[in-house]
Amino acid sequence: MGDKGTFWLPEGASTLAGEVDALFYFVYWISVVIFVAVIAAMVYFMIRYRRRTPHDRPPVVHESKVLEVTWIVVPTILVLIVFTWGFKVFLKLGVAPPDAYEIQVVGQKWSWQFNYPNGVRSSELHVPVDRPVRLQMSSVDVLHSFYIPAFRVKQDVLPNRYTSIWFEATRADTFQVYCTEYCGTQHSGMLTKVIAHEQSAFETWLQESGIPDDASPAQRGALLYTQLGCQACHSLDGTRLTGPSFQGLYGSTHGLADGSSVEVDDNYLRESILEPSAKIVEGYANVMPASYGGLTEDELTALIAFIEEQQP
Ligand code: CUA
Repeated sequence: MGDKGTFWLPEGASTLAGEVDALFYFVYWISVVIFVAVIAAMVYFMIRYRRRTPHDRPPVVHESKVLEVTWIVVPTILVLIVFTWGFKVFLKLGVAPPDAYEIQVVGQKWSWQFNYPNGVRSSELHVPVDRPVRLQMSSVDVLHSFYIPAFRVKQDVLPNRYTSIWFEATRADTFQVYCTEYCGTQHSGMLTKVIAHEQSAFETWLQESGIPDDASPAQRGALLYTQLGCQACHSLDGTRLTGPSFQGLYGSTHGLADGSSVEVDDNYLRESILEPSAKIVEGYANVMPASYGGLTEDELTALIAFIEEQQP
């Protein structure tokens, strides 16, 4: 992780980071100069024109055309510079190059999932360096916002509509991703990483991350567990997260919120993945996204086989 950078932002690592920073520092330093000038003038006038005796009268002030024209014209020019410059950078950030590599991003309470053109899925974002990458983003539940400070890109992620951002990473490294739209109790934990690889390392990662044909169902389930983001809410070591741990889950008996109880078997797990709100485990909230309803039979079997293996 790049630990250089400034008080305001981490070290930039995308092709447009420098332009965003230049604009930011232009606005910043103008604000500093004007702030200091206004405070200095205020202090000077307070002292210069303070009331010395009870019968003091303020001196008569005459208008100054030059002064008035100056404080209208100079700020107007500054605002126009910031607008023109800002609009140019905004357009560059908004329009991805047509040859950009496209990755689908799915936000959900409270994890991110990334889908690559060759069918690979991951819960951390892997990208090649020196190549434009476009993220096509949507949410399965509420508003989220996808923010990579090192790339200077941030965009809301909405249910029922695509939004997108693009960037070109300039060095191979790992960068932090934040959710920057309050989305529920685990909002602050909705974190992931961007891993920027050299081009050849990225190709290798893509090849190796596909599910091998000869994998057992439980091995495929283990991959799905991380790729689909299950680990954000279901631990494997008994730790209590947002949802029940998978450790020792299979074969156990759950108390349900309605007072009844259920034995955890294949059919219970199947129903709980496809339709999470059907049976709520006592002591847990009904917050699992319904987005897993689209899993294939093969994926369901694999996940259930994986959960069955998680015995203490
Ligand atoms: Cu997702 Cu905050």
